[in-house]
Amino acid sequence: MNTLHTIAQVRAAVSRARQEGKRIGMVPTMGNLHAGHIALVEKALQRTDYVVVSIFVNPMQFGPGEDLDSYPRTLAEDQKRLLEVGAHLVFAPSASEMYPEGMDGHTRVSVPVVSEGLCGASRPGHFEGVATVVSKLLNIVGPDVAVFGQKDYQQLAVIRKMAQDLCLPVKIMGHPTIRAEDGLALSSRNGYLNAEQRAVAPLLQRTLQQIAAQVTSGRTDYAQIINEASQQLSAAGMRPDYLDLRDASNLSQVNDQTRDLVVLAAAYLGTTRLIDNLEFSRS
Ligand code: PAJ
Repeated sequence: MNTLHTIAQVRAAVSRARQEGKRIGMVPTMGNLHAGHIALVEKALQRTDYVVVSIFVNPMQFGPGEDLDSYPRTLAEDQKRLLEVGAHLVFAPSASEMYPEGMDGHTRVSVPVVSEGLCGASRPGHFEGVATVVSKLLNIVGPDVAVFGQKDYQQLAVIRKMAQDLCLPVKIMGHPTIRAEDGLALSSRNGYLNAEQRAVAPLLQRTLQQIAAQVTSGRTDYAQIINEASQQLSAAGMRPDYLDLRDASNLSQVNDQTRDLVVLAAAYLGTTRLIDNLEFSRS
């Protein structure tokens, strides 16, 4: 397994793999890899012959005051895990390789509607940063298949829409969220939690399960259900950023006809922002 830092080197390596008739898979990440990321790599390995994992903490998707500087950078450990799982190539560019002229004046990919609300409301410009870097990464590598986690549900919806609208010749695949035994979705940001906060954190997923249970049992007073859930999170010391029920297919608002739903949440525990979601159906 090779680690390459420039676009030209990656293009050359992928083109050699293609000449050998290999199908190319890709998993974009920001590194600090955990079992959730590794599950995406395994899925890509099952479906393709040559898997490229990118590791790039993308400054364009971080807002002012967010954790760009403190985001964990653990390239050596990440390389070890990727070697063990059998990835073929790591692409770890510098910010100047990706944004040689800086970010001001750089082309931006903006995906309306699906980027609005939820995380898009509390993190202005975030999804533009994500869509821009993911389109660059897909253009650099040119994979047949790219795998993303459902943990970042809105991000996956944004990337699917971007790939469709821009006619990118890649199959975007989602992968279910990998969780700790107590239900907390694995995230690089969980490392920011102290022991007390870590003990409270699984309440986020439990609360989403309670909301889903209420809705599947026939309750339609959505605002009240959300309100009760929000109070439960606050009582445990979390600061809910949003908690919302949406149509699972396109994240539009639900009505009484919506059958496939997703409940999504973001909440602060101290200064750490956790996100999670749960898909469910009702008859
Ligand atoms: P990052 O947070 O490193 O996540 C990389 C990929 O891993 C994303 O597709 C994310 O949804 C997935 N992932 C994270 N935690 C997961 C879990 N517990 N179970 C399953 N999948 C999980 O998301 C990003 O990086 C960036 O925004 C990126 C897409 C790389 C663009 O910069």
